[in-house]
Amino acid sequence: MKIGIYGGAFDPFHNGHLSMIRGAIASKKVDRVIVIPTGMPCFKPARKVTLSPYRFYMTKAALKDEPKCEVCDIEQVFGEPSYTATTLENLLKQKVVSEKDEMYLMFGSDILFEFESWHEPREILKHAKLLCALRPGVDEGQARNQALHLEEVFDTKVKFFQIDGIDAASHIIRRESVFDDVPETVRKFIKTHGLYCEDAPLMHVSDAMYTTLMKHCFTLFHEMSGKRLLHSMNVCVLATRYAVRFGADPDKCALAALLHDCAKELPEQQQIDLAAKIIHGYIPGKQILHSPAGAVYAKEHYGVEDQEVLDAIQYHTIGREIMTITDKIVYLADKVEPSRDYDDLSMIRRYAENDLNAALIECYCAIKESFGRKGQQIHEDTQKSLAYLLANRSQ
Ligand SMILES: [Fe+2]
Ligand SMILES: [Fe+2]
Repeated sequence: MKIGIYGGAFDPFHNGHLSMIRGAIASKKVDRVIVIPTGMPCFKPARKVTLSPYRFYMTKAALKDEPKCEVCDIEQVFGEPSYTATTLENLLKQKVVSEKDEMYLMFGSDILFEFESWHEPREILKHAKLLCALRPGVDEGQARNQALHLEEVFDTKVKFFQIDGIDAASHIIRRESVFDDVPETVRKFIKTHGLYCEDAPLMHVSDAMYTTLMKHCFTLFHEMSGKRLLHSMNVCVLATRYAVRFGADPDKCALAALLHDCAKELPEQQQIDLAAKIIHGYIPGKQILHSPAGAVYAKEHYGVEDQEVLDAIQYHTIGREIMTITDKIVYLADKVEPSRDYDDLSMIRRYAENDLNAALIECYCAIKESFGRKGQQIHEDTQKSLAYLLANRSQ
């Protein structure tokens, strides 16, 4: 089988990417296409790339109904940036592609002129042939001449296929926040998760913390469902925004927020065993259990030492009487991150524009009301936290 390999940051995935995939399949030069969103980027400054699980799941959403095409997570691992030659080798090693298949590396004609300066081009060509897209308006003569040059230098064969003239560029889409050139599914994904916001909150975390967040994202990617990971990243971005707004530490808030649900999908017994290390006596029920379990798991599995971060994880479901600013931010961001749509959160979100305590009071009251409708009472620690905030309101 002839397999097209199409890698990229896809930040965001746009119609130009889609026309590459469709064009390659329509040309019959390949039978199917494996799309590989980059994990650790090789050539772009890491800070400017959207956290990789966002890009992975966005690409998956874009291609979910696309025939003869699959999105592969082979680069969703932490470590050295994955060079093309290594990725191709790993595709074979991990049997995503069989030895009998022929791999074709797909790219736009501009890459023909850069290929010689790529990392280990000869290694790439040991595993794959080159398949170049030609867009209307591109100087085909120049591209074909360059292809002849590469064929001579590397003793290879370059194939071509035609694509539609969609001229979209991710960096322009990001810069202008205009999403006309992305598939509808991607537009929806961007809106749901609040991506590409102008204030780019994660720019406020330190370089070291950004690397830590990226690293944890790769671990979480393999430990939790896509839905929960997207939720966790949304909480991370929103908590960082609140940290900047309310003068808290962006590093602490981002870290606690990203890991706040890290134990939620662990087996129940494991959660109980983890929680029992810090809770002596009564072990809380299923809904709350993952918070103390998460604090222990964050320490043991993710190496978090900062007690303020661990506390914010521990208290993110029910709060505690006297909350730190990090506790409050993580609690609130968890309840109102952009993909939450279970209730009308507009009032809480509005309060959170400029008054953290007022937002928290509003949030507690909404929970109290919803519990009340079901004939239930809120947890006594939440009650204490609410009472404390109300008593100290004017201070
Ligand atoms: Fe939670
Ligand atoms: Fe959560």
